[in-house]
Amino acid sequence: MNIVQIKNGRKITLREPVENDAKEIIEFYNIVGGETKFLSFGEGEYKVSEDEQKNTIKSINESNNNTMVLATYDSKIIAIGTISSNQKKKGKHVGILGIVIKEEFCNFGLGRIMMEYLIDWCKDNNITKKISLSVSEDNPRARALYEKCGFEIEGILKNETYIDGEFFNIVTMGLIL
Ligand SMILES: CC(C)(COP(=O)(O)OP(=O)(O)OC[C@H]1O[C@@H](n2cnc3c(N)ncnc32)[C@H](O)[C@@H]1OP(=O)(O)O)[C@@H](O)C(=O)NCCC(=O)NCCS
Repeated sequence: MNIVQIKNGRKITLREPVENDAKEIIEFYNIVGGETKFLSFGEGEYKVSEDEQKNTIKSINESNNNTMVLATYDSKIIAIGTISSNQKKKGKHVGILGIVIKEEFCNFGLGRIMMEYLIDWCKDNNITKKISLSVSEDNPRARALYEKCGFEIEGILKNETYIDGEFFNIVTMGLIL
C-alpha cells in the first residue's frame, strides 16, 4: 500500500484489490464509462457479474504478469490501472496497460503516478519486457501522458471506434523495458 499526494492536496491510497472490491470495481467502471468517451465501453456497458469480477481479482493476484492497482480517496475507488498479459511463451512478455481516473481527480498528476507504479511493477516482475496500449487519436491528455512516460507510437488503426455517428482512429503505443 502506498499513500501519495496529488496536486490538489488530496492524499490518495494506491493498493492491490481484494475480492471484496468486486462490487465497487463494477460500479466504478460503469460510472466512468459514462464520464469519458475514451474507454472501450460506455455508461452501464461493463457487464460483468460480481462473481466473475471476484474470479478476475483472484487470478490477477495469483499471476506474475497481470496486476491491478486501485486508487482510493476516502476509502472509495477513484481510479484503476491494469496490466493484462497472456500466459503463452511467445507473448507473455507483453503487458497491455489500461488506466482510468474519475474525471474529478484528473489533471492533478495521478495519471503520472499510476503510470510510474505500473511501469515499475512490470520492470520488477522479471517477465514483462514490453508494455503496449491503445489510445484514441483525439485524446490529447492521455497521449501527452504516455509520451511523457516514454511510450512511442507504433501504428494507427483507422476508423476503429464509432461514437455518436463519427469514426475515430486508435493509436497503438509501446514502451520497451
Ligand atoms: C488519461 C488520464 C489517465 C491522465 O491522467 P491525469 O491524472 O489526468 O494526467 P496527469 O495530470 O498525470 O498528466 C497529464 C499530463 O498531460 C498534460 N496535458 C493535459 N491535457 C493536455 C492536452 N490537452 N494537451 C497536451 N497535454 C496535456 C498535462 O499538463 C500533464 O503533463 P505534466 O505532468 O507535464 O503537467 C486521465 O485523465 C483519465 O483517466 N481520463 C479519462 C479516461 C481516459 O482517457 N483513459 C485513457 C484511455 S487510453
